[in-house]
Amino acid sequence: MAECLSATAEATEKAGAAIREGRLVAFPTETVYGLGADATNDEAVASIFEAKGRPRFNPLIVHVADTQAAEEHVVFNAEAEKLARAFWPGGITLVLPRKADTPLSLLVSAGLDTVAIRVPAHETAKALLEAAKRPIAAPSANPSGRVSPTTAAHVMEGLGTAPQLAYVLDGGACPLGLESTVIGFPEGIPTLLRPGAVARDEIEKVLGHALGDADAGSGEEGRASPGQLESHYAPGSALRLNAETIAADEVLLAFGPRAPDAETSMNLSASGDLKEAAANLFAMLRALDAVAEGRRIAVMPIPDKGLGEAINDRLKRAAAPRG
Ligand code: TXA
Ligand code: MG
Repeated sequence: MAECLSATAEATEKAGAAIREGRLVAFPTETVYGLGADATNDEAVASIFEAKGRPRFNPLIVHVADTQAAEEHVVFNAEAEKLARAFWPGGITLVLPRKADTPLSLLVSAGLDTVAIRVPAHETAKALLEAAKRPIAAPSANPSGRVSPTTAAHVMEGLGTAPQLAYVLDGGACPLGLESTVIGFPEGIPTLLRPGAVARDEIEKVLGHALGDADAGSGEEGRASPGQLESHYAPGSALRLNAETIAADEVLLAFGPRAPDAETSMNLSASGDLKEAAANLFAMLRALDAVAEGRRIAVMPIPDKGLGEAINDRLKRAAAPRG
């Protein structure tokens, strides 16, 4: 059983040592909890896939302490530099070409010639990077296909018995609650590969132009962000989206002040605040799932602007038929 430790300086030192020894540590970031390994150690990175039960090798996000550390591993272009200056540390991930001499495991790229990299803002994540003295590869700390964890208890619930996992650092609930926004540069054009914690319009404001479209020209299989499996965020219960009313065999995931009466319901944000809704999304999906007992989860419509784009993306995946 993994040990769940409050994220004190002492616990973080222990966890950093475990990373250097090739073991896994789950830790909070401002987005979601990550399942971390030494990104320069092939076996440690492989054990991430093992622990999560991932059906195949998806490329992983590498976490580093600052932009200078990122520059040791990937080649920046001018627009990537602009985004790093504006949003790091924070909830944005940049997919950039690998440097030939980077010590990063090839497995973090899963066969691509790029690396997804980000500088997290969460104090515990920063302290762990410092203690480990290694770049840390970390996907969300949930078993494959399940909802991302936003508390240490969620991590223990899903991965607590994974033998590869040494420690879960408990740093409280993740403030943003949605995974990072992933930006790639196919043909040099900044492109939204995964909507996330930083909204599209904030990024476009910094760039001074619109982001490219990930699905354009990426062909058959070719989703530019390979981890974007349709049913990636599935809770156990079925979901019905854009529900204006609720049926007898449903529980309700509400949004905004005009929620219909329901026997079992939770409100992502009674005031209609998208940031509050993002922070609550995964925890409320889990909580409703736990009490649904075969009932469907009806989800009220969420406006598709700002963080609503990422919330709707995750809800669509959660509602997709299971494969
Ligand atoms: O907020 C987050 O991003 C969290 C925390 C822990 O940092 N991590 C996370 O990792 O969500 P994961 O593995 O669940 O999602 C990584 C996403 C996937 O959609 C993956 O396909 C994409 O990033 N990705 C990673 N490397 C890539 C690459 N080289 N090219 C394109 N997409 C990549
Ligand atoms: Mg994930």
